[in-house]
Amino acid sequence: MTPVLEARDVVKRYGDAVAVAGVSFEVRPGECYGLLGPNGAGKTTLFKLVTAFARRDGGALTVFGLDPAATPSALKARLGVVGQEDDLDADLDVVSNLRVHGGFFGLGGPALEARIDRLLGFLELGERRHAPIMALSGGMKRRLAIVRALLNAPELLLLDEPTTGLDPQIRHAIWNALRALKAEGLTLLLTTHYMEEAAQLADRVGILERGRLIAEGAPEALVREHLPRFVLELPRSRQPDDAWRELARDVRLTEEHGDRVYLFHDDEGPLRRFQAERAPGGAQLRLASLEDVFLKLTGRSLDA
Ligand SMILES: Nc1ncnc2c1ncn2[C@@H]1O[C@H](COP(=O)(O)OP(=O)(O)OP(=O)(O)O)[C@@H](O)[C@H]1O
Ligand SMILES: [Mg+2]
Repeated sequence: MTPVLEARDVVKRYGDAVAVAGVSFEVRPGECYGLLGPNGAGKTTLFKLVTAFARRDGGALTVFGLDPAATPSALKARLGVVGQEDDLDADLDVVSNLRVHGGFFGLGGPALEARIDRLLGFLELGERRHAPIMALSGGMKRRLAIVRALLNAPELLLLDEPTTGLDPQIRHAIWNALRALKAEGLTLLLTTHYMEEAAQLADRVGILERGRLIAEGAPEALVREHLPRFVLELPRSRQPDDAWRELARDVRLTEEHGDRVYLFHDDEGPLRRFQAERAPGGAQLRLASLEDVFLKLTGRSLDA
């Protein structure tokens, strides 16, 4: 199947700083691909290359087979973009923001109005259609940005940190909407530094660090590939070293980061016994996650 997006050794520099240092990945039709990475990893820069807001310095990039650097307007009509920063027009109300944006795509009249109504309903903003932008909460602005990005019926929706800073309820509402769009066949490329978001939405994730893709795969497969199934996380300062070192002889992998110790094991049993008998309060037994993969590969936490 021809990929919707194909990046090969893509490079972007700002002066001497390398923001994207040779990234290769592809997004397949109908999938949700998640670019997961901490602040400064290069996520937004990659988006800017895809949407032709920045020029790449090396490598090859195609979206629907077109190079964004060469054919931006032919591409823009097929993309929906939800940027990281709020860029709604504060002088206009909700519906006027949408009408103006629709106008950029040559949309108007009853067809546009029907589409606005449907999408405002879909993202539960129907009662806000005449609200000034200033009167919207952060979560409403985010949902309005998604409505706006969907107006031109895009074939690929790009979302740069769609739920950063939002409360859990709104985050779940946005996840549900994105899942529904995906079920209709829309291809999604999103960035996030919430590993839970990536695990909830993405068919595949690419873990980006300092401009490089350091791991890629289906979330569960990535965790399985890099780590045993269970982890017991202990606060080191409250843990007698001898006790966990004794257990560590029996576990497959021990990681120490900051003031935490992570003991990994394929079976829950030994970890549970250790937790009951030896571990201090505050020890947490859980399934290994993408966050642990990132920690193992980089020694850093995803949200640091
Ligand atoms: N216009 C610019 N001029 C100079 N440096 C830039 C510019 N834009 C980004 N950078 C640098 O490129 C690197 C990648 O930035 P980018 O915004 O792509 O990261 P990000 O993964 O989106 O981070 P965040 O999670 O904070 O949004 C950073 O070191 C950043 O300082
Ligand atoms: Mg960013």
